[in-house]
Amino acid sequence: MSHLLAPSILAADFSRLHEAMALIDGSEADWVHVDVMDGCFVPNISFGFPVIRDIRPLTGKPLDVHLMIVEPERYIAAFRDAGADHLTLHIEACPNLHRSIQMIKDAGMKAGVAINPHTNVLELEDVLPDLDLVILMSVNPGYGGQRFIKHSYRKLEKLVALRAATASKALIEIDGGVGEGNAARLVALGADVLVAGSSVFKAPDPRQAIRQLKSPPLHTIKS
Ligand code: DX5
Ligand code: ZN
Repeated sequence: MSHLLAPSILAADFSRLHEAMALIDGSEADWVHVDVMDGCFVPNISFGFPVIRDIRPLTGKPLDVHLMIVEPERYIAAFRDAGADHLTLHIEACPNLHRSIQMIKDAGMKAGVAINPHTNVLELEDVLPDLDLVILMSVNPGYGGQRFIKHSYRKLEKLVALRAATASKALIEIDGGVGEGNAARLVALGADVLVAGSSVFKAPDPRQAIRQLKSPPLHTIKS
């Protein structure tokens, strides 16, 4: 399977969200990445249910909702009702992670867990077989436009090995600082999904940026 691309609307112009959605919908991108921040789990607030509800009818592509909020299990049904297809919560926000994952699946969505740059991927071992996706954060969550943290390459390799060892089918999604300079290497190391905010929406030609990130040139792989 070739990798999937999930542009993040966090980097779009919010006064023209319908244009951002039309761009993604008419492009080779696969999912719409939707970043929800509560000003508590992360030091920033983005948007919530009304925005998700309003963008839902603008695309047939899955809404890949990334919750950067405390107590995410309180809102699982509400995100499903707003139109989320995938719901990912942070391991650092969930004391009863196994139960939270089951709640997402019972609500009829694909279940994901995100891990911060400081969290060891081995902490996912016991839930990995239950997951549809893992978001490996390659920046500290809270803001778009940050620099990719280089140790994420090593974490990705570890996670790929752990996935095989646990016979998990979870997709591995890389989130933060992804662009044409590292996309090919991430895919070569086993990333299944690339999230791209700034590298799509701040590009002079977002359509071309999406095309490039879907087929990143191999010569850009650096060690
Ligand atoms: C960061 C968010 C990311 C963000 C990525 O907290 O989870 O999804 O939108 O933005 P870029 O691609 O600009 O790093
Ligand atoms: Zn995200």
